[in-house]
Amino acid sequence: KEVKTIRTSLLQWYDRNQRELPWRYENESECESESDFDKERRAYGVWVSEVMLQQTRVQTVIEYYNRWMKKWPTIHHLSEASLEEVNEMWAGLGYYRRARFLSEGAKMIVAEGGGFPGTVSALRKVPGIGNYTAGAIASIAFKEVVPVVDGNVIRVLSRQKAISANPKDSLTVKKFWALAAQLVDPCRPGDFNQSLMELGAVICTPLNPDCTSCPVSAQCRALSMSKHDNSVLVTDF
Ligand code: ADE
Repeated sequence: KEVKTIRTSLLQWYDRNQRELPWRYENESECESESDFDKERRAYGVWVSEVMLQQTRVQTVIEYYNRWMKKWPTIHHLSEASLEEVNEMWAGLGYYRRARFLSEGAKMIVAEGGGFPGTVSALRKVPGIGNYTAGAIASIAFKEVVPVVDGNVIRVLSRQKAISANPKDSLTVKKFWALAAQLVDPCRPGDFNQSLMELGAVICTPLNPDCTSCPVSAQCRALSMSKHDNSVLVTDF
């Protein structure tokens, strides 16, 4: 039914249109399994990229990410770096707390010796890893079927469902996590989550969304409402 249509359309669109970014590897096909070693390598890259992306634009992050991964290709390399080195590498990105969390988190994960945490609940125990980062790492690197909600996802879903609410309100945010949890594709959770974020970043933009290129415009309540009544546009976000 509708949920399946939305999943299929989004994933198909993502497969054809995703931006090539250094932390995205070639897509292995659905439900195929990767070695634990590959998963942990991917998890480390997803972690670094998602933390950088939290306050910084994609174009800027690409350069920083590539430099970072060249210097510290694995979490073991990072765990041996000093905070000074890490801050130096971070220079220009701002919010240095993020760099410190990466450094401390790497030290903690390596010290515990159990490998990279692979579930949301284990990831949440690492300093600086909140719901968003935990969901991104768990779904993208470890295929845990969990949602990821950021500002992009809230905007996309609020338009899909024509929900008008303040995205800064914690109850609203909770509602969107629940909504995203119902939607996430059980077979390709990481790609599905990224397709929602990607759609929000390139198509379902805050101003002038490109609805004619949108793979899920047929299911979009905000769009269908606006066709009948121009005053009912969900543009709060
Ligand atoms: N913004 C932050 N993380 C992202 C991701 N993994 N894909 C698309 N947009 C993002």
